[in-house]
Amino acid sequence: MSRSAHPAGPRHADVLPEGHYTAPPADLNALDPKVWAHTVTRTPEGSVSIGGIDVKDLAEEYGTPAYFMDEADFRSRARAWRTAFGHDADVFYAGKAFLSRAVVRWLHEEGLNLDVCSGGELATALSAGMPADRIAFHGNNKSEEEIRTAVTVGVGRIVLDSFQEIVRVAHIAQSLGKRQRVQIRVTVGVEAHTHEFIATAHEDQKFGIALADGQAAEAVRRALALDGLEVVGIHSHIGSQIFDMAGFEVAARRVVKLLAEVRDEHGVELPEIDLGGGLGIAYTSEDDPSEPHEIAKALGEIVTRECEAARLRTPRISVEPGRAIVGPTAFTLYEVGTIKPLDGLRTYVSVDGGMSDNIRTALYDAEYSVSLVSRTSDAEPMLVRVVGKHCESGDIVVRDAFLPSDLAPGDLIAVPATGAYCRSMASNYNHALRPPVVAVNNGEARVIVRRETEEDLLRLDVG
Ligand code: LLP
Repeated sequence: MSRSAHPAGPRHADVLPEGHYTAPPADLNALDPKVWAHTVTRTPEGSVSIGGIDVKDLAEEYGTPAYFMDEADFRSRARAWRTAFGHDADVFYAGKAFLSRAVVRWLHEEGLNLDVCSGGELATALSAGMPADRIAFHGNNKSEEEIRTAVTVGVGRIVLDSFQEIVRVAHIAQSLGKRQRVQIRVTVGVEAHTHEFIATAHEDQKFGIALADGQAAEAVRRALALDGLEVVGIHSHIGSQIFDMAGFEVAARRVVKLLAEVRDEHGVELPEIDLGGGLGIAYTSEDDPSEPHEIAKALGEIVTRECEAARLRTPRISVEPGRAIVGPTAFTLYEVGTIKPLDGLRTYVSVDGGMSDNIRTALYDAEYSVSLVSRTSDAEPMLVRVVGKHCESGDIVVRDAFLPSDLAPGDLIAVPATGAYCRSMASNYNHALRPPVVAVNNGEARVIVRRETEEDLLRLDVG
């Protein structure tokens, strides 16, 4: 992940620390549209606005730290996926990236389906009116209660992840007098080029059933024999934050090969394949993600070609983007608290949040960018590390970035592309209060997930 070192700002001219940084951007006040939500722009006064509202007003009204989400941007990305995949395919938004009732309603209105992976996500989806048959239920160890609820409400599909689960879901469905539509999740043996913890298609990990040694074919065999199940397809998810389409192509090819084997052995053509999520987004200006229409075209072509070669009817394709829809739509707004220049190293900028609102840097060594957003500055760039307020030296929000050297306590800085896996992975570490998510649209802001309070914390503490 390391990038080339570059002469740092004036405070650090002599010794260059190791880091992930490239040259400071030519203009520290510029906002790269690759990493910021669509409506983010500089106001004539120099501060930044989202959805037509100045961040200074947002900070005043909602406090910091807080996530601000561009509703129009979310809807347009959701629509772009829907349009790209057309009527012969389905797009399931992966709720684990970020889920709230408002988001469920936006998805419903934009014609997307929803992937949930817990009883909590299912409850959120249903409470916001997502029809159960547009929901897919995932997970490598669903509880009996989760399965019973999912079958009872009639989710569109349950994605089976193990031999035990095949039997478990079949029994529960049968006991409820139902036949549950299921897909079988397979591991296709692809090494996705991403962090080890978010790659899921190599064989040495907990998800899915391996294709390689005939296990997946055996899973289909067993599932087809059970009355409680209607096997509708095969599922593959190769990992997350992936830029290279090659992994998806190999996955598609291997999944189609399994469909052909199933047809040859059982005389059944399974009608669906799901190729999962995982498409990368730009966290910094270095990243170049593909557009949904390019992804749809590439996947459609490979599946069609492989099916023709195997003389199979082309199955209905579905995908499960999470990050690619919600990631770029939000930024986290922080207030600068303290600034510590460490001679010859870098300047530590402490903000009022940290690993409790964004664990991704600590967990995956993820890269982010950061900008001063309450004003512009013509000061020289200084190399900074943006850190949180937690009692841990690994509490890093942005490992290496440049901010203007006149940065001062009270300035507002924002980290873009935090819509995915930040609020949804937020914690109460050090009894931090998880920040709110505020949706902004056309000059109006509204809280969609409120800030936690000390009363919320104490309510759980019943000792
Ligand atoms: N489908 C399945 C079965 C998944 O497991 C996931 C993500 C997705 C779809 C959506 O993947 P996406 O398009 O959002 O990459 N916490 C990590 C990411 C974990 C992803 C888990 N599964 C992170 O912060 O990068």
